[in-house]
Amino acid sequence: MEREHVESDLDLEQTLFTEEQIVDRLREMAAEIDADYEGRDILLVGVLKGAVMVMADLARALPRHVEMDWMAVSSYGSGTKSSGVVRILKDLDTDIAGRHVLIVEDIIDTGLTLSWLVANLRSRHPASVEIATLLRKPDALQMEVDVKYVGFDIPNAFVVGYGLDFSEKYRNLRCIGTLAEHVYR
Ligand code: IMP
Repeated sequence: MEREHVESDLDLEQTLFTEEQIVDRLREMAAEIDADYEGRDILLVGVLKGAVMVMADLARALPRHVEMDWMAVSSYGSGTKSSGVVRILKDLDTDIAGRHVLIVEDIIDTGLTLSWLVANLRSRHPASVEIATLLRKPDALQMEVDVKYVGFDIPNAFVVGYGLDFSEKYRNLRCIGTLAEHVYR
């Protein structure tokens, strides 16, 4: 859906990135990834459900064969913040031992979910594990896990659209916008 299909203009405060800006940035990231992984096969691991749109556009922008697999994790938290206590809801179908794994994420906020995920995947003896995220919030800069590919650094606001939800809504919004506080308070 488009921005004008959101019930009330007041729910979405500001469009941060249009669909075109997002896809352009993902194309740039894909070119960088393609060059970095020259001579190596990539297994893209998408984190459900938020990364669905990023995966679709990033994977199609890559000028080579890639495999895709998915994980679903749930991070216990209160409201809009995660706690770092993670549970696997859906595990990978692929044995990643010896594989070059690139985790595809929609957003990194505290980085707690991702730190846990990277440690979990490393324990399966892949050849390498890197992270590509479309969005990164300021708190993530403090995390010890290195994020190799970042689409956009954004301020500390709650954002929705392009896969990102609030209470399972807004995932199918084409752009990314900031949600007004009155919606999630
Ligand atoms: P972290 O563990 O704090 O990095 O949280 C990461 C997860 O929290 C993401 O994969 C999203 O599912 C969710 N999240 C964090 N910030 C936002 C946001 O601004 N909008 C929607 N979901 C978010």
